Amino acid sequence: MTLSFEHETLTEQKRLLNGQQVTVNQLMPLKYHWAWEHYLNGCANHWMPNEVPMNKDIETWRNNTLSVDERLVIMRNLGFFATAESLVGNNLVLAIFKHITNAECRQYLLRQAFEEAIHSHAFLYIVESLGLNEQEIFTMYHTIPAIARKDAFEIKLTSALLDPDFTTDTVEGAQTFLKNVIGYYVIMEGIFFYSGFAMILSFHRRNLMTGIGEQFQYILRDESIHLNFGIDLINGIKAEHPTLWTAMFQQEIIALIHEAVKLEIAYAQDCLPQGILGLQASAFRQYVQHIADRRLERIGLPLQYHSSHPFPWMSETIDLTKEKNFFETRVTEYQAASTLRWD
Ligand SMILES: [Fe+2]
Ligand SMILES: [Fe+2]
Repeated sequence: MTLSFEHETLTEQKRLLNGQQVTVNQLMPLKYHWAWEHYLNGCANHWMPNEVPMNKDIETWRNNTLSVDERLVIMRNLGFFATAESLVGNNLVLAIFKHITNAECRQYLLRQAFEEAIHSHAFLYIVESLGLNEQEIFTMYHTIPAIARKDAFEIKLTSALLDPDFTTDTVEGAQTFLKNVIGYYVIMEGIFFYSGFAMILSFHRRNLMTGIGEQFQYILRDESIHLNFGIDLINGIKAEHPTLWTAMFQQEIIALIHEAVKLEIAYAQDCLPQGILGLQASAFRQYVQHIADRRLERIGLPLQYHSSHPFPWMSETIDLTKEKNFFETRVTEYQAASTLRWD
């Protein structure tokens, strides 16, 4: 038996879920090159919140430049993201990581977990910089019903995997696991985050609260890689375990997305009771539906809404591709540093 044949066999034996022949300690030979690529892309985008200047934001916040409605939008989104980042990180480490049986995917999950910690750090840094009431922000997931409902939706998916009897060995168990992965990558990071991205980046576009805006740009950039990894993982598990993707299970996922879209539209209405310059709650119905359809098609499910994109300016900002030179110098500097050659 030749070495290359052995390698080929070993590679073929790797599995994303329920792999039994190759342990999670064996990174090479790589099988899932996409996981490694996402890992490298995540590393190339390294940033730290406390390196983003907040002086202009502090001034804007203190001298009452913003209207009451504008302040509400910012407070609500800080409150939502402050906890959401933590829920994502915890679900990753406590629920997803254990069941992924492949080393290159776990390598990515470790990188992502660190990025979620950086995102939580960003919210602490913003709250401290602006001198906001930390108790108020960090308890909104209890006190603001529109946030509480989104979080409860996600927490239920985590709890299902934390049951001591939970296993992915059965079809039902593996489907529950897949539902968690879809619930976090596609719904939380792919739908629930996007109204907030749009709202906060609309301030940045008007040259207001640019320190928060810059941090949201970096978070959005990280989150788009998280979403892409999640979609590759979901489609990879589907391909390796086609028996999971039954017509009934697909209907269950579509129903879950319908429920999430309703929660997200309600959240946008709560953040924008009277609208702010350029952003009305009514447009968010269309926006959330449009985003949901984009996510559905990427995991091979039929479009549900056929809504057009209501914020043309955002397609440049939010649906950015890697090629677009959208981010400011800081990320570019980090990227340059990460590719330094020492010879
Ligand atoms: Fe995050
Ligand atoms: Fe994330």
